[in-house]
Amino acid sequence: MDKLTIAIDGPAGSGKSSVARSIAATLGYLYLDSGAMYRALALKALERQVPLSDEAGLAQLAKETHIGLEPPTTEQERAGIKNRVWLDGREVTEAIRTGEVAQAASRLATLARVRQILVAEQQRAGAGGGVVMEGRDIGTVVFPRAELKIFLDASAEVRAERRWKERQEKGDAMTLDEVRKEVRERDKRDREREVSPLVRAGDAILVDNTAMGVEETARLVIMLVRQRQEELTRATRRDA
Ligand code: CDP
Ligand code: CDP
Repeated sequence: MDKLTIAIDGPAGSGKSSVARSIAATLGYLYLDSGAMYRALALKALERQVPLSDEAGLAQLAKETHIGLEPPTTEQERAGIKNRVWLDGREVTEAIRTGEVAQAASRLATLARVRQILVAEQQRAGAGGGVVMEGRDIGTVVFPRAELKIFLDASAEVRAERRWKERQEKGDAMTLDEVRKEVRERDKRDREREVSPLVRAGDAILVDNTAMGVEETARLVIMLVRQRQEELTRATRRDA
């Protein structure tokens, strides 16, 4: 059985990273967090003080930037890190997980020329199949022919609470209200932008995990993977 390409999209805090990483481990697939790429580029733009409205400057910055994604070390994994991120050879795994970087990422993610460069990299990284990629436009733009597309969602309140809890565990002083505002603003910008907005692809399966934990959601998605694999096997036999 050929390995599938699995696209997981959804708003902030819907469980994409946790679920994608868990199912990639179960299936022996590569897990790729496309949002980490937008965040890493945003961090560099903030550091270099490139205005987040300067499309040409940011596209140039994207071209000159090397972003690497790797599985976490055992120690990082124990600390809840799902993905190791490198920016031009420097580890930025933790540095990109702040509210400021998240907001900057969602602002530069509205720019077509910046997206074009990151999307091409994402397509190269996942070209071999056997990959679970998560983000906002994976099923619509990056891998429109992915064999399985999941749109993960949860209520806005639950998503903000999850993010707040995570921040608290890291010793971040943000209040629940501030996190709620950050998540709401970013969701709105991601859903309303002109280029590749966050929308459910017509053929994506909606999984609402408001009342489900990570493990339960991952088990459900694995069932959907198995079902899809069986369908594809049957279709191949029919054609043979
Ligand atoms: O990647 P995304 O922003 O969609 O979400 P995440 O980083 O995977 O999940 C945000 C937080 O919610 C993590 O701490 C997860 O453990 C938690 N979570 C949860 O409690 N129940 C779920 N069904 C999904 C995520
Ligand atoms: O983890 P969380 O869901 O909060 O965000 P993320 O996946 O790390 O993505 C950060 C930001 O990058 C999002 O708010 C989007 O604006 C942008 N993004 C995007 O536009 N397209 C993607 N495929 C992934 C992320």
